[in-house]
Amino acid sequence: MPSAQEQAQWLRMLWGGFWSSRIIITANNLQIFDHLTEPKDAPALAELIKSDPRATEVLLHALVALQLLKKHQGRFRNASLSTRFLVSGTPHYQGDILKHADNLWNSWSQLDNVVKTGKPASKTTFDHHAFIMGMHNIAHLVAPEVVRSIGMQGVAKAMDLGGGPGTYAMEMRRQGAASVTHFDLPDTTNVAKRLTKQAGIDGILFKSGDVLQDKLGAGYDLVLLSQLIHAFSAEQTQMIFEKVCQALRPGGRVVVQDFALNPNLTSPTQGALFSVNMLVNTPGGRCYPAQEIRALLKQAGFVRASSRMAAGNSLTIAFRPHTRS
Ligand SMILES: C[S@@+](CC[C@H](N)C(=O)[O-])C[C@H]1O[C@@H](n2cnc3c(N)ncnc32)[C@H](O)[C@@H]1O
Repeated sequence: MPSAQEQAQWLRMLWGGFWSSRIIITANNLQIFDHLTEPKDAPALAELIKSDPRATEVLLHALVALQLLKKHQGRFRNASLSTRFLVSGTPHYQGDILKHADNLWNSWSQLDNVVKTGKPASKTTFDHHAFIMGMHNIAHLVAPEVVRSIGMQGVAKAMDLGGGPGTYAMEMRRQGAASVTHFDLPDTTNVAKRLTKQAGIDGILFKSGDVLQDKLGAGYDLVLLSQLIHAFSAEQTQMIFEKVCQALRPGGRVVVQDFALNPNLTSPTQGALFSVNMLVNTPGGRCYPAQEIRALLKQAGFVRASSRMAAGNSLTIAFRPHTRS
């Protein structure tokens, strides 16, 4: 049994987690990491970001404590973590997902009421562009490995359903899919079109629509649903799976990628906590254990469902039967 002191420390770390969270979100909003690629003292930085010098210095010291900055002879500059992930325009940039964290900050602040009422947080200001670019920040780190694990050999016609920024659609094309249809809501399609153009990747068709309402098309060899079903209830998910089954050619594959979650719904921590994120932000969404995803796929008409891990996420694969029984 840990001592009372040790337990109290763990407790403090839990309730105080929002301090470090808010500090990094604010530093990102104020573009502090973009300005500290070269060392600067607090007044010089405050002048650049138009902030109060005393307050800026307090924030900078906390960022050093969090190992996001270094301080030398009164001047501050990015530590390696910030250099790699938080400077705009760098290959592994994560600043957009931090902007999206500010979206989540607003909805999560309503958690008491969400739990009492069972209803999602009421709408606050929401930066949709940060959400979708944030998805790109995350996906581009893992998409090559995930798509390699899925395998693109023989894939002539694929769909990236709820494709968001199009990171997976682009990677499927890079790894040999002859054509990929990106399907998402209209606001998101615009972001994906821009990113695809910037990357100079052709062979991606864009369909704007609502997966709950609109037709997906037909004859696909492969449909990928990456980080999509957690936005929906089990009933909606099964309805989506039925639609996907109809959209595939006989023998075609569906691939569902999402956070890993054990059947007990309590681990890994990321999956269990992400369910709270969906509770707060959607009427019926949550994380699904692979076992439940396989059961929903079978009920929707799929066969040979199996699950495995790829790049830290859970992948479930199933097939449309050649003949309907
Ligand atoms: C968490 S993002 C995942 C994006 C991408 N698949 C990935 O893994 O990076 C979920 C995506 O689903 C889209 N989406 C949510 N509801 C949708 C709906 N009803 N119809 C179509 N797309 C939807 C969102 O616009 C968003 O792009």
